[in-house]
Amino acid sequence: MRPLAHTPAMDVMLTIHFALAWLVAICAVFFSWNALGRRVMNAVLGLQVLAGLIVAGLLGASHAPMPPLLIGHVLLGFAALIAYAVARRLGDRPGGAGRALIASIVGLLCIASAIYLGLHMTGQV
Ligand code: HEM
Repeated sequence: MRPLAHTPAMDVMLTIHFALAWLVAICAVFFSWNALGRRVMNAVLGLQVLAGLIVAGLLGASHAPMPPLLIGHVLLGFAALIAYAVARRLGDRPGGAGRALIASIVGLLCIASAIYLGLHMTGQV
């Protein structure tokens, strides 16, 4: 049961955001570990953040109260995007594989936390 009254457009966008969340999670598990995979992560995370911005915009436009956890959720989303961009840069440098791996793991943890907060905000966990 979602805590907030959503418009039809918000429900469509939230469903897209929900589906993309699991695509991001699956990609993070399988694609975080090499240069090509990190390119894929940058792309799907970029899509997810864009979808999140649209959901947040629709939520704001519906004058519904913003969930208190939303700021943390948004920051985690952007942190994941930055972590994979850093991982890609580090991975391209000679001897940078270890630090790129650490940045990828940070990105994966940010995604998992963003998913948990997202599900919590919508009353599913
Ligand atoms: C790694 C990136 C992100 C992931 C994995 C993610 C995941 C999720 C998930 C799983 C939900 C619950 C969806 C549902 O129950 O149908 C959610 C809700 C939401 N997300 Fe994200 N999200 C991410 C980034 C963002 C960003 C960057 C924004 C905004 C700029 C955002 C805004 C929202 C909003 C507004 C909600 C709905 C809150 C509500 O209705 O109470 N998300 N997110």
